[in-house]
Amino acid sequence: MTTVFSGIQPSGDFHLGNYVGALRNWAAAQHEHSAYFCVVDLHALTLEIDPEELRRRTLESAVMLLAVGLDPDVVTLFVQSHVAEHTRLAWLLECTATMGELSRMTQYKEKAARGEMVRAGLFTYPALMAADILLYQADEVPVGDDQRQHLELTRDVAIRFNNRYGPTFTVPKAAVPRHGARVMDLQHPEHKMSKSVDSPMGTVGILDDPAEVERKVMRAVTDAETRVAYDPEHKPGVSNLLELLAVATGVGVQEAAARYAGYGQLKADVAQAVIAMLAPVRQRALELASDLGEVERLLSAGAARAREVAAPTYAAAAAAMGLSAP
Ligand code: TYM
Repeated sequence: MTTVFSGIQPSGDFHLGNYVGALRNWAAAQHEHSAYFCVVDLHALTLEIDPEELRRRTLESAVMLLAVGLDPDVVTLFVQSHVAEHTRLAWLLECTATMGELSRMTQYKEKAARGEMVRAGLFTYPALMAADILLYQADEVPVGDDQRQHLELTRDVAIRFNNRYGPTFTVPKAAVPRHGARVMDLQHPEHKMSKSVDSPMGTVGILDDPAEVERKVMRAVTDAETRVAYDPEHKPGVSNLLELLAVATGVGVQEAAARYAGYGQLKADVAQAVIAMLAPVRQRALELASDLGEVERLLSAGAARAREVAAPTYAAAAAAMGLSAP
């Protein structure tokens, strides 16, 4: 059985991009693979976040992961900071990765450009992400398109480590979906939909009520033409809507494009398809929110299971590098 690992930051409300780029694929993968999914609260510390908000969002994020359909009896679901090996291995990998490699990461460059005070953790973030993945000997990492570069770095670091210190880590690969890997902001279709960018009309929350979803999709920015065609470069707004329709209904983007003579009907159909896709998730999230104690119990059991795998991997890596046993 292959192993999958993936993580999500509890840094804001989960949106449609998180759902179609990652979360629904996690749910689809859980029965065929040995699966580990993680709320990466340590990564959320790399940008400013209020402590109380971080605590609340970490638990809410776990609720969302259950709501998208992860079965806690089947997957190992846990919070990153509950398993100390993540930070411990991150240090070993920071001593494996180079400044040059880390400086080339686009996500670092973009986020660093936004803030005045750039935290050291934002720079070393990809080493922690590599540690997350390598601790579980993951073969596949289901992520959206924006994480490809981090996965390439993880592979490079794993290969370098194995060559220098002996075979220790499985070299993982990214599993990026064919459609929906990069959902764009509905108001600024040249930018991806993002938790850390304030664009309320451009971002569809997984928990938005149907009327809100409809309003946002109907007002989505398209272009001055009226021709429906799939052309992400020249028609990013329309192409984004076609991708969403493809993901939500299973129809191909070209086939979907051929069905429409204008933008109005396309938007109306996208809105309904997205509402139908999100409805069961919203329903489950409302039910689960009433029993947060049970969610905390599941997370604690998940962390215990994760530690059983993470601890021997960390110990092997530490020994391979020459650290003495405690
Ligand atoms: P994060 O929290 O930003 O996003 C979680 C997942 O959602 C995907 N995603 C998108 N997919 C399609 N369209 C979008 N607009 C969109 N926005 C986000 C992301 O690609 C991601 O799969 N560094 C990671 C978290 C992380 C991680 C890991 C992931 C930490 N350790 C180990 C995998 C394995 C991040 O910030 O994702």
